[in-house]
Formats: sequence, C-alpha cells, structure tokens
Amino acid sequence: MMHLARIRWLAWSGLLSLAAARAADAPAPESYCDWLAHDYAIESPLCGLQGSPQRGRALAADSHAGNCLACHQMPIPEEAFHGTIGPPLAGVGARYSAARIRLRVVDERQINPLTIMPGLYRDPRLANRVAADYWGKTFLTAQQLEDLVAYLVTLK
Ligand code: HEC
Repeated sequence: MMHLARIRWLAWSGLLSLAAARAADAPAPESYCDWLAHDYAIESPLCGLQGSPQRGRALAADSHAGNCLACHQMPIPEEAFHGTIGPPLAGVGARYSAARIRLRVVDERQINPLTIMPGLYRDPRLANRVAADYWGKTFLTAQQLEDLVAYLVTLK
C-alpha cells in the first residue's frame, strides 16, 4: 500500500517537473519585461517606463481595470464603495519606497505566499489553468503598473 502511494507521488512529481520545464522553455511574450526582486523590492521601473500618478489614480478607481477599491480603502472619495479585505492604502507612500510598492503590486505573493491579492505583473509563463484569451498576458501592462506605483508613492 505504502509503495503504491509512493509510486503515485513520484508519477505526479515527474509530471509536474515536466510541466515546469516546458513552461521555462516557452519564449516570453514579446511585451513582458522580466523583473528581479531584491530585499523585498524591485528597484528598476518595469521596462524602464515612467508612470503617471493621474493615470494610476484613475486605474485604481476603475472597477474594470485595477479594481483596487474592491479590497482597499483609498483616498478616492468620489467612489462610494471601498473594500476592507486588504490594508488601507492611505499613507502607503510614507510606509514604503517606490521599489517596495512596486514589488507588492507586481506580486504580493513574494511577501506573503498565502495572500489573496492577485499578482498583477507575474511572469505569464508561470501561470497555469489560464483561459485561452488570457494566455501569455499579465493582468496589467507594465505601463499600468508603473502608473499605479507613481500614484501610490504620492499617498503620504
Ligand atoms: C482581492 C483583493 C485585493 C485586490 C483586488 C487588490 N489587493 Fe492589494 N492587497 C490585498 C491584501 C489582502 C493585501 C495584504 C497583503 C497580504 O495578504 O499579506 C494587499 C496588499 C497591498 C499592498 C501592500 C500594502 C501594505 O501596507 O503592506 C499594496 C501596495 C497593494 N495591496 C496595492 C494594491 C493595488 C494598487 C491594487 C489594484 C491594482 C490592489 N492592491 C488590489 C488584497 C487586494
């Protein structure tokens, strides 16, 4: 009995590493820029882009785009509904540098692997069970990500 369980486990792990190898072999989608986290931060702006705080604010408030208000309270008084699942983001620019905010928005799972906050700019090659339309895409573009960072650093 024990042997059977072990064989099953080995078969699974073999399949999993095969899938991982295949994912790593796939070419990165043209528009995706690799990023490197160091010391809980991503120092360099994604793709070297400059963000706009105005666009970032609009994106955060838009329930069809960033949808940050679904989980966070933010100083965006014209929107009635603010969720409370995540921490309030007022003052986040005083708590963290731009580099630290960038990693949290790109992939909060690097800080807390169990978080429910979606990784908004994770390597699409690491995704699994993705609907065909979303395959190879990040949730937000690098420009949108930098716009959000540019906005969040102003929340002091
Ligand atoms: C599904 C809910 C959800 C959504 C949507 C969401 N977040 Fe979060 N976020 C969280 C949670 C929960 C945390 C706390 C991290 C944890 O789980 O440990 C968090 C943490 C953060 C942090 C770190 C805050 C701190 O004080 O440590 C930032 C910055 C942040 N989110 C920004 C955003 C932005 C910008 C958006 C929209 C693009 C967004 N989040 C969308 C749930 C969400």
